Parts: sequence; C-alpha cells; structure tokens
Amino acid sequence: MIVLRDIYYVRLGTRDLDAAQRFATAVVGLQAVDKTADRLYLKSDARHHSVCYFLGDPAEQVIAFELKDWTALAPALEQLESAGVPCGPGSREEALDRHVESFVWFHDPTGNRIELVARPHDAGVRYFGSRDAGIQGFGHVGICSTDPVRDEKFWLTHFNAMVSDWIGPCPLLRVNPRHHQMALFATDHKGIQHINFQVAEIDDVMRSYYHMQKHGVKVVFGPGRHATSGGIFLYFEGHDGMIFEYSNSDRKIIESPEDHRPRQFPLDASSFCVWGATPDIAEFKE
Ligand SMILES: [Fe+2]
Repeated sequence: MIVLRDIYYVRLGTRDLDAAQRFATAVVGLQAVDKTADRLYLKSDARHHSVCYFLGDPAEQVIAFELKDWTALAPALEQLESAGVPCGPGSREEALDRHVESFVWFHDPTGNRIELVARPHDAGVRYFGSRDAGIQGFGHVGICSTDPVRDEKFWLTHFNAMVSDWIGPCPLLRVNPRHHQMALFATDHKGIQHINFQVAEIDDVMRSYYHMQKHGVKVVFGPGRHATSGGIFLYFEGHDGMIFEYSNSDRKIIESPEDHRPRQFPLDASSFCVWGATPDIAEFKE
C-alpha cells in the first residue's frame, strides 16, 4: 500500500510561457515565483509552487502527490514495478526542476503521468496573489480516464485512496480527510480535466464570477453548489483550453473515514449543481 498525504503540484506543457503567465496571474490570481527560458513556477500556498508550466507540448501534463512517509519512495517503486505498472525513478536534475528532494513517476492505466514526491520544498515566503481571488491553496484535479471503473480500482488497489462519492461511474477520491483530491472523469484521452484552487468563501466565488465577465473570460460552469462536497464553485476556461475551478469544496471533512458511506449520484447536471446551473463541460454531461 502506497500512502499519499496530498496532491502537490501539476506540470503543464505550453508553447507560450508569457501567455500562460498572464492568465495564471491576472485571471487565476496565482503568484509567479520563478521564470526561466523554459519554466514558469506559480505559487498558491505554502508550497514552493503548485503549477509549473514548461515549454513543450500542451498535451504533456503531470500530476504529483506527496508521499506520507518520505522514506517510502523505494518500496513504492518496487510495488509498482512488481505490479507491472510503467514506472521509474526521477533523476537528481529532474528533482531539482521540481523543487523536491526525490521522486518517482508512473503511468496510470489511462496513461496519465503521475509523480510521487518525497520532501517537496515549502517556500520561506508566503503566497501573495497577484489579485485578491481569495485563494487558500491547491485543492484537487479532475483526471481524464478512458475507463473510470478500471482506474478507480487501480487507485484503490495500490494507494490509500478511498471513494467519497460517485457521479455516474466517476469516483471522487480522497487520500486524506478532505472530500477529494482527485476526480476521475470518463474521456477518450489522457490529461488533466480541471485544476481546482480552494477559496475562502462564497464572496470570493461571486467576485471572481464578475471578474471573469469583466475580462471576457469564458465561464463554463457556475456559480453553483456541488451536490457531492457541498462546495460552492465556479469553472472557467484558461490558457491552452485548461479548465480552472475555484471552490470551497474541501471544507467538507470526513470525520470517520472507515464509516463514511460513499453516495452514488446519477450522471446529470443536478449532481454537479444543486442550484440548477448547466455545465458547458463535456465530461460533466451524460
Ligand atoms: Fe473540482
């Protein structure tokens, strides 16, 4: 069993680092902390960064989780290897690029590249957003899955992941007491389906809703409230077509994980929004 503590960062390929920076700072409200000729690091909380754009193919994306036990990288790699999962160790140079002490990578059954990191770097200076979006930290990701039932089994077999709820066949999974750190959505390709940042309160969600309208940013879902986590949300489309979400969905703490009963919701709009908002997001539709 590989025990994960939390989601940690995402890495996104892009052909245009400057445009990525403009959207990530002026719209999303992240803080650019470091930029080189081929890297842009963006901060949202105590982590050194939660998003790293690298110069490359936008289809190349990585999701990283922090291991609970920083000495458990080698056994994790052994377990994945013996299960026939494509995997390998990260080099010293690659670890430096990620601002972690060490890491391993693997591919989930859909083909998503996932990294497991040990001793990722916190920053000595606090997050100071480029606009007051109310961001409290990196929340979770939607992960594209070509078979959510198969991929759920993969996460439950090898990791401490637990199902918090399902929407249709799509599980919302947690590795800690907060409602979910990943949600698997049915698609015909790999990739990150959306990136969530937690905000403090409903006022932040609504302020951002008007901010997006004023700046011509395409809102693709919300404002609304999720039936599953109870979180109030807003989804909008950004650089390279990536969907970003603000919500306060992680506020739901699962007090007794062993006794928690995952609820099955149907795959329809009311499961995503109890207020009646209709998603303009392919993976959220029947
Ligand atoms: Fe989400």
